[in-house]
Amino acid sequence: MTEQQFIPQVYTKDITEGTVSWESPSNIALIKYWGKKKDQIPENPSISFTLNACKTTTVLSYSKKETTSDFDFKVYLDGEHKPDFQPKIKTFFERVLVYLPFLKDYAFKIETSNTFPHSSGIASSASGMSALALCLMSLEQQLQPGMTSEFFNQKASFLSRLGSGSACRSIEGDLIVWGENETVEGSSDLFGVKYPYAVHENFKNYQDTILLVDKGEKQVSSTVGHNLMHGHPFAAQRFAQAHENLASLKPILESGDLDAFIALIESEALTLHAMMMTSMPYFILMKPNTLEVINKIWAFRKETGLHIGFTLDAGANVHVLYPKSEAEVILKFIKTELASHCQNRQFICDEIGFGANQLIINKD
Ligand code: PMV
Repeated sequence: MTEQQFIPQVYTKDITEGTVSWESPSNIALIKYWGKKKDQIPENPSISFTLNACKTTTVLSYSKKETTSDFDFKVYLDGEHKPDFQPKIKTFFERVLVYLPFLKDYAFKIETSNTFPHSSGIASSASGMSALALCLMSLEQQLQPGMTSEFFNQKASFLSRLGSGSACRSIEGDLIVWGENETVEGSSDLFGVKYPYAVHENFKNYQDTILLVDKGEKQVSSTVGHNLMHGHPFAAQRFAQAHENLASLKPILESGDLDAFIALIESEALTLHAMMMTSMPYFILMKPNTLEVINKIWAFRKETGLHIGFTLDAGANVHVLYPKSEAEVILKFIKTELASHCQNRQFICDEIGFGANQLIINKD
């Protein structure tokens, strides 16, 4: 599989105008992508749970233009025009133009909204970029009818990756692998694929409660963080470890061994942050409350024997992961013991989800 196959032949249909809409979720990595080559080709494979409640809805309206000299688009968030979003989308359009050659033929209106609070510290790039990529694919599908849903999803994931790496894991669910790994058949650096092996009942409806420990702007963006893996003293070992961890996750997912699962994902989360702390320049994205929460989770787990674990993304917020069957007691613990470590006591209850959905546009 190469990039070439995503370059379309001549389009068979002429579409003058229309509107499409998709809602696409966020995802949380269990084995982390940290470090990349050009065009978001990952240095190591990753696997994530697709989320359900945290998502972006995007409505894309398009009308054919007279001239095709440049891109023409406007972006709105919650109905408000956002000129500051323009450069990121323009960079994305430039990157994907060869794969979507119709991009300069239309004037676009991109209207987007998120289910999670805008300044929650939850990155909207995975859900936002995948929702936009899916809308563009829906237009391409009209220009070239007959594409298979497998190709549609693959190309949507491929395009999302060019917008923001981890966004390629948001198209489908419930477990998505991205990055070539010899133990996962069909895995690719170019797009995310559904995890193809058996998954134990224990992981069905797995819960993710996101503790909003710090809602501020990150001091170091993930783009800068990824780049600091170039020449990082532990990079080679870390990339090899991610491959090994993915291989060890396979029997854990199959047998439903929750203790081994927790040990693996917590180690992955702390390794990600260890890479940040050992970069040059070094940086720390965790906050005092991140550590308070982690210590309380460990103490509660020891005391109760319940299967509560955590993971972290590139920020201070904590994703508390646990099986649905233990949700009642764990949620009570979160409310009474952990919420006080969140800004304004805020947390978001989410769970494993099954990917993006196309929305029907009411034309009236
Ligand atoms: O997709 P990016 O460039 O925002 O990087 C995401 C990196 C992590 O969230 C830390 C890990 C991951 O695999 O999602």
